[in-house]
Amino acid sequence: MATLRLGDTAPDFTAVTSEGTLNFYEYLGDSWGILFSHPADFTPVCTTELGTAAKFKDEFDKRNVKMMALSVDGAASHLEWIKDINETQNTEVNFPIIADVERKVSDLYDMIHPNADDTLTVRSVFIIDPDKKIKLTLTYPASTGRNFYELLRVIDSLQLTANHKVATPANWEHGEKVVVSPSIPTEEAKGIFTKGVEEVKPYLRLTPDPSA
Ligand code: BEZ
Repeated sequence: MATLRLGDTAPDFTAVTSEGTLNFYEYLGDSWGILFSHPADFTPVCTTELGTAAKFKDEFDKRNVKMMALSVDGAASHLEWIKDINETQNTEVNFPIIADVERKVSDLYDMIHPNADDTLTVRSVFIIDPDKKIKLTLTYPASTGRNFYELLRVIDSLQLTANHKVATPANWEHGEKVVVSPSIPTEEAKGIFTKGVEEVKPYLRLTPDPSA
């Protein structure tokens, strides 16, 4: 197991999930992907996270993103837990949860951090592009639930910057001004970004979101 870094190819696997046996690459198809792990079934923070992820599915669908979760318990346990998630979070879990009892996928993605807990997965997130390259990794401790608005925001940034020579500034959200890539001289940028280029400093040029 090697640490996975940005730009690495996301390893493929076939795993038992709450929706049957699935091959990861086949499941993703040409979509973007979010693979995210949870410490264990029937735990409070995880219950809120999976419910939140389910409620965000429409937003992920709009961005062509498919979700797959992982927990180190078995499929029968996942199915029982899903009933609780649906009941308590007022939703329907609408993506598969890997039943990683043998820790195969957890090991492949280095989701167990022995100095935090040597048996349970931490809260890892991998965002994967349609070429199966890893575009973002996040690692949260068990005690901190993730922010799914942030995952949507990062997806918006990744999809924008994949198609335009821009970067997104601190706390950027879809529709706000973006930064012109440093590799483009300002005069050239004015020809590319027809909505206008504001030169705050020679190295800091802003332009309206080209996708908005
Ligand atoms: C939770 O999901 O609530 C949780 C899981 C493991 C440790 C602490 C909290």
